[in-house]
Amino acid sequence: MKNFINNIPKAELHLHIEGSFEPELMFKIAQRNGIKLKYNSVEDLKKEYSFNNLQEFLDIYYEGAGVLINEQDFYDLTWAYLEKAHEQNIVHTEIFFDPQTHTERGIEFSTVINGIHKALEAGKTKLGISSKIIMCFLRHLDESEAIKTLEQALPYKDIIVAVGLDSSEVGHPPNKFERVFEKAIRKGFLTVAHAGEEGPTEYIWNSMKLLKVARIDHGIRAIEDDELMKQLATTQMPLTVCPLSNLKLKAVKKMEDLPLKVFLEKDILATVNSDDPAFFGGYINENFQAAADALALTKEDIAKLAENSFRASFLDSETKRARVNEVKEYYEKNK
Ligand code: HPA
Ligand code: ZN
Repeated sequence: MKNFINNIPKAELHLHIEGSFEPELMFKIAQRNGIKLKYNSVEDLKKEYSFNNLQEFLDIYYEGAGVLINEQDFYDLTWAYLEKAHEQNIVHTEIFFDPQTHTERGIEFSTVINGIHKALEAGKTKLGISSKIIMCFLRHLDESEAIKTLEQALPYKDIIVAVGLDSSEVGHPPNKFERVFEKAIRKGFLTVAHAGEEGPTEYIWNSMKLLKVARIDHGIRAIEDDELMKQLATTQMPLTVCPLSNLKLKAVKKMEDLPLKVFLEKDILATVNSDDPAFFGGYINENFQAAADALALTKEDIAKLAENSFRASFLDSETKRARVNEVKEYYEKNK
């Protein structure tokens, strides 16, 4: 099973690039930029990686991102993720970045996007990984801040495929961002949103109704609402599930409680992703493995999840078809 998971071609659709910041690289970049972290060593920092909820994680995540100053830093961060993705047979990735985490500290929008974009371009030519960029608005900030951020993104419209919504979910419902999403859609962006990670099912409904999302990020609390489960299946609305994230942030008590297998049984287009792999103890294959172990996933389930990752992606339909066929061939050869 381990080899089957490792070698199956797959797409990653829920990955915060700032969440792929490994402590070793964080210290290296901090030193390069003459910034002193709150922690004395990689070991001290890693000791902090135990979280009771989303907010406890976000506090450390934003602190780490604070050492990213120059375009090269964003390039190095993205490149390190791509090397890992390549090792794990990710052939397509759609990554989130949080511009406000950086522009709020006085870093130019262009510094952030250019560093990430150049690394992704190198990922295409050197590693054969195709990619898309999704810009997330921080939902704990005001909508007016999100509107400013959208305006900053307009010159980069050709390299940013979609806008999303992340950070502290509870208390920051989708309707807070209805106008900025409407504007983003008018400008030609696709939309996605984190919903139903910690927040109620109403946030999933309203992300679909008000924000017109093409995918729901996480969405695990959909399991609490039968009508919503039916709606997700009928509309084939993708869910980007992140098993280790949900476990580490205590969105589920134990991995056995993750509704991933149920989603598959109900014909919901669920996918497996790593969210913030440097913080949650694993990249995409470790996420597949942890879910497979706890939920007794079969090779057929794994293949279905890999197939779903391409179906749920923002690739063009011809490429999607080709990738889905690769997964099917792989399954037939290795089942
Ligand atoms: N949820 C919300 N915001 C985030 C996450 C997440 O899992 N990771 C990084 N920002
Ligand atoms: Zn996320």
